Amino acid sequence: MINWEELKHIHVIKKLDEILSSWFNTAILLTDSHGTIHNHTKGEKSDCNNMLVQLILQSGNGQEFLENFSTDVCNKIAKSEKALEVVDGPLPNTKAIFAKVKIDNEFLGAVFAWPFLPHDLTSADKEALKSAAIREGLNANDVEKAVESLKAVTDANLYYMQELVQLVSQEIETLHQEISTREERINALNKELGVRYRYDNIIGKSKPMQDVYTLLDKIKNSDSTVMISGENGTGKELIARAIHYNSPRKDKVILTINCAAFNENLLDSELFGHVKGAFTGAVKDKKGLFEAADKGTIFLDEIGDMNGTMQVKLLRVLQEGTILPVGATEARKVDVRVITATNKDLKSMVETGEFREDLYYRINVINVHVPALRDRKEDIPVLIDHFIAKGCEEKGIAEKRLAKRAMEKVFDYSWPGNVRELQNEIERLLVLTGDDPMIAVDLLSPRIREFGEHTKIQGVRVAGKLKDALEELEKTMIREGLKRTNWNKSRLAKELGISRAGLIMKVDKYSLDKRKIFASMNAKNRTPLDDVEEDYYEEEEKIS
Ligand SMILES: Nc1ncnc2c1ncn2[C@@H]1O[C@H](COP(=O)(O)OP(=O)(O)OP(=O)(O)O)[C@@H](O)[C@H]1O
Ligand SMILES: [Mg+2]
Repeated sequence: MINWEELKHIHVIKKLDEILSSWFNTAILLTDSHGTIHNHTKGEKSDCNNMLVQLILQSGNGQEFLENFSTDVCNKIAKSEKALEVVDGPLPNTKAIFAKVKIDNEFLGAVFAWPFLPHDLTSADKEALKSAAIREGLNANDVEKAVESLKAVTDANLYYMQELVQLVSQEIETLHQEISTREERINALNKELGVRYRYDNIIGKSKPMQDVYTLLDKIKNSDSTVMISGENGTGKELIARAIHYNSPRKDKVILTINCAAFNENLLDSELFGHVKGAFTGAVKDKKGLFEAADKGTIFLDEIGDMNGTMQVKLLRVLQEGTILPVGATEARKVDVRVITATNKDLKSMVETGEFREDLYYRINVINVHVPALRDRKEDIPVLIDHFIAKGCEEKGIAEKRLAKRAMEKVFDYSWPGNVRELQNEIERLLVLTGDDPMIAVDLLSPRIREFGEHTKIQGVRVAGKLKDALEELEKTMIREGLKRTNWNKSRLAKELGISRAGLIMKVDKYSLDKRKIFASMNAKNRTPLDDVEEDYYEEEEKIS
């Protein structure tokens, strides 16, 4: 199945549509193999530039009118060998081009370019066309304007038009293929996934996460100290909680202490408590966090930021299982499990003397390393589903999904901020996407949308065949135009809808410069007209 919905947003296809519309004033209809049109939604205002198609789509049964035609053609071409054909359009004396979309040799849809006029159209033919359009219920004045704006296409131009329409169908085929390959890749990765897709609130099906789960299972019933390491936003705190809530201590508290945020003066009494009169303001005994967490868990986050004095004190707690409240003379026994987390490389901090070696070995009894998201991309789809489901439930809205193109971009991005960054992106998208059930690729943050853009296939595709074809077309248009306007660049630039400077650059690029052409021309082939032209040219040079 082709995802037409997505294809109409694709840049290359939009661009081709624009080119066909500006050169030939024709519209592009994308249909499935039954002739059902997919790039215009019934009852919605169409962004098509061709006035006649606009009028038809706006009229009551315009879509049916066009679909009767496309269905008819699709039925006929389904069996034929031809990939592309020029046929009579749904209104008399108009022409249409269609190109098949074939995937694995199967006819899955078509690209229609309609309307344009044959080059030998008589004014009587044109009147017949107008009357037919009016009979279809269109307003006579509108029809007059719409039909007059249609282009009669010469044989030479018809060739380029066919090429362009074919390019649209080829683009669709390539993109479809690319999307399926990507899906296969994701599916293949999925096969390698473990059975568990979550551990408490930790989401992840990847092999590395399965290993984390296995380790968490093993340490579930032990009291040993655990150190969780991993980059920012990989879910270290989530894991610390999972460890606590799966341990026999789960009915007691888990207290989190952010070592980086700790004020050294407060530290002692905060962590270990104090006795009445220990210092000014110590009017009564106060329990420290370690005592408050008795029989529970203490989570020391950002342990790499813990200063030297604090490191000594912590070491004592870990070694002796006792604390000494400020001002107390006797140590008190505490039963706490210590879990630490860091995104720093503690090992090298030990080497540089920033972190105590003895403490390092004390806290690093068991190490849980959380892999970065870019090393387990296969978790991205489940994480996205999870965050979308969560977000939509919170908002009380129906679930949305990510367009495939958007999913690909998300997949390719390197996620320096890991799961947190992904979560923030999804939350942002849910807000931006409004009522639309599908999250479109253009809504993605630019850094994600544009990631690796210049190195990706799309650029290559545009640079290859399409670029050649477009340049060829451009060159011909300009060459013919120069002849027709007697090398009047100002007039031609206006006709082509580009600046005069732009035209001069293109003339240069394609070596359509008259002087060069004259130079290569054999003198005896010259006609009087050539001299006239040359005068014109010199005149032009003076102006510019
Ligand atoms: N595997 C995961 N499944 C679901 N949510 C996750 C996962 N990993 C991270 N998150 C979410 O991402 C955010 C960051 O997670 P968390 O705070 O646990 O990361 P961290 O490693 O402690 O980050 P930091 O290094 O910045 O302190 C949280 O909102 C968390 O719920
Ligand atoms: Mg954290």
